[in-house]
Amino acid sequence: MIDDFQIQDLKSRMVAPQYSVEDVETEISLRPKHLNEYIGQEKAKENLSIYLEAAKMRSEPLDHILLYGPPGLGKTTLAGIIANEMGVDIRITSGPAIEKQGDLVALLTNLNDGDILFIDEIHRLSRHVEEILYPAIEDRVIDIIIGKGPSAKSIRLDLNRFTLIGATTRAGQLSAPLRDRFGIILRLELYNPEELSRIITRSSKILGIDIEQEGALELAARSRGTPRIANRLLKRARDFAQVVGNGTITLESARTSLSKMEIDELGLDSIDIRMLTTMIRNYNGGPVGLDTIAAAIGEEAITIEDVYEPYLMQIGFLSRTPRGRCVTALAYKHLGIEQPRC
Ligand code: ADE
Repeated sequence: MIDDFQIQDLKSRMVAPQYSVEDVETEISLRPKHLNEYIGQEKAKENLSIYLEAAKMRSEPLDHILLYGPPGLGKTTLAGIIANEMGVDIRITSGPAIEKQGDLVALLTNLNDGDILFIDEIHRLSRHVEEILYPAIEDRVIDIIIGKGPSAKSIRLDLNRFTLIGATTRAGQLSAPLRDRFGIILRLELYNPEELSRIITRSSKILGIDIEQEGALELAARSRGTPRIANRLLKRARDFAQVVGNGTITLESARTSLSKMEIDELGLDSIDIRMLTTMIRNYNGGPVGLDTIAAAIGEEAITIEDVYEPYLMQIGFLSRTPRGRCVTALAYKHLGIEQPRC
């Protein structure tokens, strides 16, 4: 199922929310299969359960769904749950993996009645490919051109009923015509530590490792609001508990493993710290533009916006103003740097 996914090169960042090669197997075994096992995202879940019930009552496929929110929050997991709850198959792919119109035509024509097509990073579909999607979504047809030049013919193919689930880090990156064709738009939010600690406790049962509540909360507090990071930290804490500790993840063994991984009490790692200190030392704490920060720390602007900023803003360390990003008083305090008076 995940063979179409782009596995991203993460260097060795423990708190990166994107997929790493090592996450693949664990994520599959830890993924909840039913909506009632899925922790958090109460607002999205509440609406979704109504849409699911209504579609099932009418024996119709669900309307097309757009899931958006920062990486690692469980968009693929939710798509899998939707397929399971509807009792249909799901085909998983991603925007960059669909290179040619023919790739999408093959995917669409192979769907059985009611199936789900999940396209991760849907904002990265090429214009050319996107054009095939419009009539497919709207009228369940695709037009394919056979041959070249004056003898070329256009053939219209009918498709089975299907649900497209698109996932993106930001709905604003999607072209307006594509965005407007989704009947259901669900926004996923960063998780709070209590929800993450429940996810960690659930995962530890599946992985067969004992964990004390304080240990789970400590890992949760440092997981940047992201289940994928929480599960990754759990696996490393398990290694420490089994090799150095007594086999149970306690508060102490969790803290030891986190400090060995150089993740601070709030889940910040060296890249977050470098970004904040660069903004303070070079730009007086801001306001400073996104591209300037990106150039100064050698990261892509889009990575900063999608990966670093959401969490730094959630914990109140960064604010966005019309003139640029600013480091907040809270961040100065955390870093132990005195804030200059304005
Ligand atoms: N694993 C990843 N995300 C999850 C969630 N929201 N609930 C339960 N387990 C998860």
